[in-house]
Amino acid sequence: MKLLSLGKDAFQYMEKGFGAIFGTQGNPFHYLGALTIFFFWVVLVSGIYVFILFETSIFGAFDSVEYMTHEQWYLGGVMRSLHRYASDGAIITLLIHLMGELLRGRFSGVRWYSWLSGILLIWMVFPLGITGYWLVWDQLAQYIAVTSSELLDWLPIFIEPMVRNFISEESISDRFFTLMAFIHVLGLPLFLVFAIWFHVLRISRPIVNPPRALAIGTMAMLLILSFIKPAVSQGPTDLSKVTGEVGLDWFYLMVYPLIGDWSMGAVWALLFIPTVFFCLLPFIWPVKKPAAAVISLDNCNGCTRCFEDCPYAAVVMQPRTDGLKFKEEAIVDPTLCTGCGICVGACPTSTPYRQRSELIPGIDLPDLPLSKLREDLLKETEKLKGEDRVVVFGCEHGPELNRLKSEGVGIIKLPCIAMLPPSFIDYVIGRHHAEGVFLTGCSKESCFHRFGVTWMEERLAGERDPYLRKRVPIERIAKCWGEKTPKKELDKAIQDFRETLHSLEPIKTGVRKALHSHGKETKHGD
Ligand code: HEM
Ligand code: SF4
Ligand code: SF4
Repeated sequence: MKLLSLGKDAFQYMEKGFGAIFGTQGNPFHYLGALTIFFFWVVLVSGIYVFILFETSIFGAFDSVEYMTHEQWYLGGVMRSLHRYASDGAIITLLIHLMGELLRGRFSGVRWYSWLSGILLIWMVFPLGITGYWLVWDQLAQYIAVTSSELLDWLPIFIEPMVRNFISEESISDRFFTLMAFIHVLGLPLFLVFAIWFHVLRISRPIVNPPRALAIGTMAMLLILSFIKPAVSQGPTDLSKVTGEVGLDWFYLMVYPLIGDWSMGAVWALLFIPTVFFCLLPFIWPVKKPAAAVISLDNCNGCTRCFEDCPYAAVVMQPRTDGLKFKEEAIVDPTLCTGCGICVGACPTSTPYRQRSELIPGIDLPDLPLSKLREDLLKETEKLKGEDRVVVFGCEHGPELNRLKSEGVGIIKLPCIAMLPPSFIDYVIGRHHAEGVFLTGCSKESCFHRFGVTWMEERLAGERDPYLRKRVPIERIAKCWGEKTPKKELDKAIQDFRETLHSLEPIKTGVRKALHSHGKETKHGD
């Protein structure tokens, strides 16, 4: 547990460090899945060109690769290098992506689906790279062919030992080589595309493309590397001899040196035990799953905002079933819902002004109903003292909140900051429950619930429904995003904010009156 927490800290500091150097849009840590896909695009395009020049036979393969590397270095050679380096890049980003999801605890609950399909992807990407090295049919390919066959022969799959294919030049079959080419060029890539689609199927708006700046920077890096250190072969095969020292690609072939030194059973155990452990992880380490959001049809006008904002595609719209005049109604798939509450923050009926009837929005969280949120808010603000009272609304995945509490500072914890409907900010300031509202949570790009901070920012800026009303004095709202924000920094931000509040003109009664008069209960729409 301690180790995981240390790992998470280290990961987040690295993420922050890269952000400081490359900026938000250029930070690879924010776009690891998308970068992996970007590398695959480069692999695909370069692979098509390489395949045009490639001769799919054991007798012609090596020479055709030599031709493109040396005779046509300016295009064929560059494409070959791009193909290799982008494949290596994909392994790096894939492994860091895995590490990031693991350390952030994003493997259980509804995320088991992406997690398990991710493990499947690993088992596709490695064979894809290894079969690629095989096709060059150089010394390294000979080493890979013999070593892989020895490893595979340990499993009771083949009737004839596979390694017999590589005893001599005569024993090797051209058909076998063609099969390898088919697996590398068509079979595995097709499965990979399908598996990536499957991987992101259950999350809404998956980020599958890195920002332009990051894509251009990555492409430039690959090109520079291809010119400085072009990919080359390692001499033709000679099956009559055992291969001597070969240079290994440590990204794909890291296990190979063990194959000679360890027993085959031990190598398979090394591959299978972590795989099985990772596959079981979501089930042996399940997160406490909050109750799924529930719809109150009487309060739902079918506006689709919850459907638009849910990061997990847990809300679907269907034709109205209760005879009300609205076209559609929302329904929640409890197997996909994480209980993040973002939909509650999006619903136009989530307004704290409702007094005459019970506060039940169109969509609500059974574990933290909106009425309870309002109740907690009122209790918390009643206790506040001083002239610059502040309510901190914070996400439970953001910085530790309890330590911020003081006589003049109240705390309200939410599953995600975007659970907070902007009308609550209006309510706090307009009804004079506090002089200011301070929002905090994860950083935008590594938001635990994917879009929580983004949606909140857009709602505050009036770019996304439900937006913060213009009448709310924006200088009475402060924000600080970042789960790793040190306590000292947060304390200072809150202190500075309180000083700013102190220097402001008091909120005019007129505004408050206006708020009161506008704050009447509205059943459908805010
Ligand atoms: C070919 C390799 C992979 C590719 C191309 C890939 C790509 C992606 C992409 C594009 C996303 C969506 C990111 C977002 O929109 O926030 C994603 C999410 C995810 N990936 Fe991967 N991934 C790969 C491998 C893996 C592996 C090996 C694991 C872990 C075993 C993994 C675990 C996850 C999880 C848990 C999510 C969901 C995150 C969330 O719900 O916020 N992925 N992946
Ligand atoms: S609580 Fe979160 S996951 Fe569940 S429906 Fe609402 S937005 Fe979607
Ligand atoms: S946001 Fe509220 S009113 Fe709109 S569809 Fe969802 S539950 Fe219904």
